[in-house]
Amino acid sequence: MSTDPITLFDAWFAEAKASEPNDPNAMALATADATGRPAVRMVLLKGHGADGFVFYTNRDSRKAGDLAANAQAALLFHWKSLRRQVRIEGAVTPVSEAESDAYFASRGRDSQLGAWASEQSRPLAARSIFEARFEAMKFRFEGQDVPRPPFWGGYRVTPDRIEFWQDRAHRLHERRLFTRTGADQGAGWDEGQLYP
Ligand SMILES: Cc1cc2nc3c(=O)[nH]c(=O)nc-3n(C[C@H](O)[C@H](O)[C@H](O)COP(=O)(O)O)c2cc1C
Repeated sequence: MSTDPITLFDAWFAEAKASEPNDPNAMALATADATGRPAVRMVLLKGHGADGFVFYTNRDSRKAGDLAANAQAALLFHWKSLRRQVRIEGAVTPVSEAESDAYFASRGRDSQLGAWASEQSRPLAARSIFEARFEAMKFRFEGQDVPRPPFWGGYRVTPDRIEFWQDRAHRLHERRLFTRTGADQGAGWDEGQLYP
């Protein structure tokens, strides 16, 4: 029976949670704009499964602009304590409003207020302006639940290619590559290996 890469990811992620000193769910997110110019930054994995890998962000940020122009992304986990990396590539779709609402509601109140206060990726003349915006949001939502900002939500990377890299002695590393056998999400996976 062939291995399911999501099941393998679950096993590696569980080991990373047990051995990484912090943020085992931190992953580099690579995007490219309409001209093909790449950009990469860290985000946190907030959900995953057969349908994809989810992160949350400001939908007016630079990364969101890239994704609006080119809805493809690559994710990279590097778990140093395990000497492993996982590379994930695929198409990106916005997470539903209901799913974004549910995740936003689970965040701490200050993180919720921070989402309202931050015009992520746009120029900030002075830190004090940001701090004042945060205070203003505290006042605005005093005594009530903080709703999800309309400009904040999740994205799901639906993988069509996942590679697992494991360090081995003498640089004879192992690379297992899984590629989707068809365009549809229910398609299976082909498994192969790559030279390191
Ligand atoms: C470990 C780590 C985790 C991060 N997680 C997130 C995240 O989940 N969402 C987010 O919007 N930014 C996150 N950031 C900040 C981003 O790296 C980045 O600075 C921000 O999203 C703006 O990126 P952009 O200008 O390319 O849109 C994280 C940074 C680090 C170092």
